[in-house]
Formats: sequence, structure tokens, C-alpha cells
Amino acid sequence: MSEQKKKRVNLLVPVFIIKLLKFLFGYKAMRFYDRFRILKSLLLRWTLFFYSPVLMWVFVNSTKFLWAENKEIIKIMPCFISGFIPIPFFKPVMESNSGLFLCVLLGIAWVMVNLVVLNVMTDKGVVSLRIEDIWRKACLHTGLTCQTNLEPEKDVKEFPDVVSVNPRSFIVTAKGFTPEKIQEKRAELSASMNLFLGDMGYLKKQDGSTYANLIEIKYSWSDLPANIPLSRVPIVPRGKVIFGLSTDGFYSLSLEEMVHLGVSGETGSGKSVFLRQLITQILVTDRQAVIIGIDFKGGVEFFFFSQLGNFVCVDDFEKTGKVLEIVLNEYAKRLQIVRQNDCDSLYQLRHRGLYLSPIFILIDEGAEFFGDKTQSRVYEMVGKIARLGRFAGIHLIISTQRADVEAIPQQIRSMLVTRVIFKVSQKEDSIMFIGTAEATKLRKLPGRFYLKDSEGKLKQLQAPYVSKAEVKEILSKVNTEQNNGLMKLLRSAVYEHSESTALRRTACGEAVCASDFVQV
Ligand SMILES: Nc1ncnc2c1ncn2[C@@H]1O[C@H](COP(=O)(O)OP(=O)(O)OP(=O)(O)O)[C@@H](O)[C@H]1O
Ligand SMILES: [Mg+2]
Repeated sequence: MSEQKKKRVNLLVPVFIIKLLKFLFGYKAMRFYDRFRILKSLLLRWTLFFYSPVLMWVFVNSTKFLWAENKEIIKIMPCFISGFIPIPFFKPVMESNSGLFLCVLLGIAWVMVNLVVLNVMTDKGVVSLRIEDIWRKACLHTGLTCQTNLEPEKDVKEFPDVVSVNPRSFIVTAKGFTPEKIQEKRAELSASMNLFLGDMGYLKKQDGSTYANLIEIKYSWSDLPANIPLSRVPIVPRGKVIFGLSTDGFYSLSLEEMVHLGVSGETGSGKSVFLRQLITQILVTDRQAVIIGIDFKGGVEFFFFSQLGNFVCVDDFEKTGKVLEIVLNEYAKRLQIVRQNDCDSLYQLRHRGLYLSPIFILIDEGAEFFGDKTQSRVYEMVGKIARLGRFAGIHLIISTQRADVEAIPQQIRSMLVTRVIFKVSQKEDSIMFIGTAEATKLRKLPGRFYLKDSEGKLKQLQAPYVSKAEVKEILSKVNTEQNNGLMKLLRSAVYEHSESTALRRTACGEAVCASDFVQV
């Protein structure tokens, strides 16, 4: 055997084993061992090589108590360490440059394989998480405790016990707590556990009913991404819109469920971008949808949509009045059609195969719009649409920084069935809009919001982002139907005697967008 080969065998077979064999069986046994030594060394090499996921599993399980503090770093560290495992086996090859390159490539590939294996193990629950420990600590930290009934004389605190841990959710006993009560502490619990707590509710049985004493809490080890380009959002069928990304994936609502939408949040929290992406989605999925943008900021947020035949933008009360009158006339016509067909609403008509395009009335800066005491006629018309619109497929979408009575009149606010609230700093603003102070605890991240659906459930989502330039590009590929009678009426009411240069330009089919301006 050459010196180099001997050295390599000695690297892998501990010297003391050879000495022990020599001592016990003499040189005969050594000869026998010699025959198998290559096989054995090979076995050892490859066992170590292929079992690195197992070694990783041991490492991951023994360090999981650290995860709460360090999360992903500790979890993925063994994967990177495993990348070095092939190196000793390829030492001779590594002496040449190409061999070294090959080894580096192999190491990277091996890290990738291990990352995938780890991901599958975590997802399938092979790596059990120490949720129980960090949950207990978090309950004590955040005061999610109650006096035990068993020994009332003693000061013993009880908290919801973890009964089962799944890869994406864990189940706790209710013990006098309701999901709403736990939800109130969601932000504090998430911070204390250093993981992201999602939806919570009573555990559902297979038949759809719920257990009264078990609460399921969804979680993920990492927060939602801060930037989701609209191009990543899947295209949903006509009549649905995606609101954002939750821990369970993209969350969509049908227009029938949404009815009217209220959007609130402090300045810079992402309201206008949210509306922009919502309009883009609607325009892409429904070529017949009619959208009326009311923007008293001079039309800056919406006017670039006006290049499309089914979007009109208004920026004063006179035109708003005319447009709302046309919409109310359309409502009367639709009412007749629905009655003639013996249906309850436009949606029922749609289920029977008769399609009438939905109409969206978007009001950005609600406080600006509702702040003029002399415009009661216009507000009455908005109120009527709020009360009756659902029946005829007319949806109001109102966005405002503050959601008090000054910003949106009470009778209109109460009709906003679905609500989206971005970060606010005042507790009262959050309580007034969604009934809890949760929105004050949201991360200060543009586009992060709570959605309160028609059932009153709160869901944390991250809105997709789309820039004005991207919208312009997307819309250039969309063929909308311009020859709709309603649209003709609206366009003639808005653009015929328009004094606003921007609106006139857009009426001529010339889109104005941020990217049109030359930087100086
Ligand atoms: N979903 C999002 N993802 C990433 N960034 C976003 C998102 N939404 C908004 N932003 C960022 O935040 C900035 C402000 O957003 P936006 O203009 O929508 O705020 P706003 O709530 O309408 O503010 P204002 O009340 O002053 O009009 C945007 O220019 C963008 O950079
Ligand atoms: Mg805005």
C-alpha cells in the first residue's frame, strides 16, 4: 500500500481500533481486515457524507431551545457546516485548480440539498419545536394569566396550556380565555416569543363545528415579507380581488363578500398604493368593470388610470354630483332588470349567467371629500349608494387618514362592511374603525395592515406593491371595453368641459405618469 493511501485510511479509521484488533487477534485478523479496509473506508466516507442531514437533525434538535432568540441562523447553520463535509474526501482532487472548483461547486450543491431536507423536516414536523416553553414564558411576560379555580386561596396563576404543536399552528386549552382575548395580546406575545403569530380561533372539527375549549393559533418563524411586487400576485377569477399576503398565502375576497370597503391609516402607511394595486387587479381581471376615482388631491393618485376607457377621474364637487347622478340612474335601471328576472341582487343574476359590470366608486382622502358642509346633496347621494349599492353591484371604496365622524359621516361608515386599517398611532382611531386597538401595534411598515372582514375577523396582511410606472406598463397591455353606454355617459359628463389640464390630456387618451417627466 502506498504511503499516501495508508495516510488516508488512517485519517478515517481510528488508530486505536487497529491496535485493538492487533492485540486481540494478532496479524491474521489484520490480513482479513486489510481485504475490507478499502470497502470500510469507502463506507465510512459515504455514510458520513449522506448522513449529514441526520447529523444536522441532531444539531437542530439539540439547539432548538435557542431558536426563539436566533431563529433561522441557528436552524440553517448545520446546512452550511455540512457543505464542508465533502472536503476531506476530495483532498487529492483538490490539488488541481479544476478539482478545487469542482469541490466548491459540490459543497454549494450539498448545502442546497441540506437546506431543502431541513425545510421538509421542519414542515413535516420531524423537527418538533419547543413552542411549549416559549409560549409559557410569553404568557407570564405579557400577563396572559388568570387565577386558578382549583386552589383559589393560593396565588397560583394559570394560562392556556399547549396541547399540540403542528408545523404551522399550535393548539392551546381555552381555560377561560377567548381567541379575541388572546388576540388582544398578539403583538406582545409575538414579540416575546420572537415568532409571528397569525390567525387564532376555536379549533375546527372535520364537520365544520368548533371545539369550545380548544384554540388554534397559527404561527410562522419569520414575518411576512416587506415588499411583494404585484407581479408575484396570482391572477384571480373575475369578481374576486387579492387583498394581500398572510401567513397562509395570498388572501382574496369576492366582491359580493366585500360590499363596501373602508381604508384607514396614518400618512405614508400605504393607503394610496393599496388602492392603486386594487384598481390594477380589477382592471386586469374584469375588462367591463367601471371605476370612478374621486380624488380631491387634484387627481394625482388616479388620473393616470384614465387612459383606460372604463376609468373616469373627478376632482371637484360639480363633476362628482353629475357622476353620482348617472350612477343612481344606472342603479334604477339595474333594479328593474333584477326585478324582472325575479332575483334578489345583481350577484344572483350573475349566477344565472347575466353579467352586469360592477361599478366602483373610489374616494381617496375621505376627510377632504366629506369636509364641505355645503355639499349635503352630494353626500346624500353617496349615502344612498352606500345603503343600496350592494344590491346593484355598486361598491364604495373610501380611504381616509382618520376615521372619525368628521372624516366619514356615521351613516356611511356603518355601511363599510369590509375594513382595512394600516398603522395608526392613536388608539381611538383604531378602536373607532375596527373595534380594537390592534392597529396601533402593527409594525411601522408601509403596506402592513389588518383586514376586518364582514364576519368581524381580523387578519394581518401585507399589501402588494406596484409603482405608477409599472401600472402604466400593465395597463398598456389591457384591452378594456370602452363602448359601454354607462361609460360614455360618465366620460361625457366628466371630460367634455373639463378645465383641468391633466384630465383633458387623459381624456384625449394621453396618459400622464410620473415617468413622463424629465428629471432636472
Ligand atoms: N405595499 C407596500 N409595499 C411596499 N412599500 C409600500 C407599500 N405601500 C406603500 N409603500 C411605500 O410607502 C409610501 C407611501 O405610501 P402611500 O402614498 O400609499 O401612503 P398613504 O397612506 O396614501 O399616505 P397619505 O395619507 O399621505 O396619502 C409609498 O411611496 C411606498 O414607497
Ligand atoms: Mg394617499
